[in-house]
Amino acid sequence: MSQDHIKQYWEAQGQTHGDSHWASWGDNWMIDLEISTIGKYIRDGDAVLDIGCANGFAAFRQAQNHKLASITGVDFASAMIGAAQQAKSKQKLDVKMEFVEGDVRALQFPDATFDVAYTSRVLINLPTWEQQIQGITECIRVVKPGGVVVLSEGFWEPLALLNSLRLLVKLPPLVEHDFNRYLKQSKLTEYLKKESIEFEIEDYSSIYYLGSRFLRELVTDPNAYPGFSNPVNKFFYELEQQFSGGGMGIQQAVVIKKK
Ligand SMILES: C[S@@+](CC[C@H](N)C(=O)[O-])C[C@H]1O[C@@H](n2cnc3c(N)ncnc32)[C@H](O)[C@@H]1O
Repeated sequence: MSQDHIKQYWEAQGQTHGDSHWASWGDNWMIDLEISTIGKYIRDGDAVLDIGCANGFAAFRQAQNHKLASITGVDFASAMIGAAQQAKSKQKLDVKMEFVEGDVRALQFPDATFDVAYTSRVLINLPTWEQQIQGITECIRVVKPGGVVVLSEGFWEPLALLNSLRLLVKLPPLVEHDFNRYLKQSKLTEYLKKESIEFEIEDYSSIYYLGSRFLRELVTDPNAYPGFSNPVNKFFYELEQQFSGGGMGIQQAVVIKKK
């Protein structure tokens, strides 16, 4: 899929879903886990950048949960930015907040502008590894020394692990959407080490994925509980908050503390 097609896909999502989380993803439990994981790295008084902000769903939540100096959302889909601006006019948030069009591969902000910059499921939309590296470099560039970059993205290795489990019980493999290209964790960690970039990985969705993308299909009728409404999802979302790790979470967060 070319980048033009990927952009068209997100433009259509922005037009169709307004301020709903469905503009970016239906999985409300995962979105909640993303927001709380990223939120751990945001402090009161921070200037925050949400890169690939879509309709601002996560940015509004971060602004509600913290007393921020400012929060800026940037996205390359104009329909998403339009939806975010409309949603902002309905919110009563006492924070400097702006949504602007822009591309993660060439951000329009000067070096060292923000205390925290984050992505969720954005770098996976870039069609090549080279562009993903370009995006990561840009995210780091716009953060102040001492600031934090959180890249919450989809990874290939946990997908392979989940699919091995699924194969054992003859469930069909999970596949990436054609607008995604999951990051290879091995390649990314090798790159960050080579560049002497200090990082940690938060495996914050493993238990949830085990439940929602494997066990639930063994114990419930998918027709009775379609999509993300399955109560097994909610149960494993709650369990995820007590236990984490195991390497089965497709969504993981790479946390970079900029020197
Ligand atoms: C899966 S959605 C995630 C949205 C949001 N981060 C969230 O957590 O709900 C991906 C978003 O990234 C945006 N995006 C994809 N490629 C981009 C790029 N090159 N530059 C900026 N935004 C991009 C899309 O328009 C879309 O809104």
